[in-house]
Amino acid sequence: MLVLGIIVVLGLGLHLFNFWANMQLPEVLHKLGMHVEEAVMANVANGSGYIASTFSCPVYAVLYTVWLAALWFHLTHGFWSAIQTLGINNNVWFCRWKAIGNVVVTLIILGFFAVVVAGYFGLGAIGKIACAGACC
Ligand code: HEM
Repeated sequence: MLVLGIIVVLGLGLHLFNFWANMQLPEVLHKLGMHVEEAVMANVANGSGYIASTFSCPVYAVLYTVWLAALWFHLTHGFWSAIQTLGINNNVWFCRWKAIGNVVVTLIILGFFAVVVAGYFGLGAIGKIACAGACC
């Protein structure tokens, strides 16, 4: 549980560093009239291309895969735990809520994972936008 929590928090930190700090923050600073490098503003203008070039790097593809796996464990536990907290659980529904949670969370995580896979292998719409690979 502790290891899982550390991976979830570190992954979120990495994610905010990758995307929030290179997309949302520069946009806000730009709107406030502050100087932002042109190369950074290019990420803001071409978000899909920036995402694709990030995941074309194997290191990021692996780190995000590990993070998403940890999030799957965190959320599948969190789903039935939240239901329990809300008091709408019982002996009959416990297994059902667990199954429903597993399906819902798996679909959500697969959605995020599809972006990583598309960026890494240059597939689909993301792949078409991907540059030659601004790999690390
Ligand atoms: C492959 C999966 C993901 C991709 C491609 C992705 C992409 C992005 C991008 C592009 C931004 C910047 C948005 C902006 O400039 O406005 C962002 C921000 C953010 N993401 Fe993700 N994300 C992914 C997964 C996740 C997950 C799983 C979480 C939650 C655990 C998450 C939480 C956040 C947060 C909190 C922000 C900052 C808030 C914001 O900028 O609006 N992301 N993400």
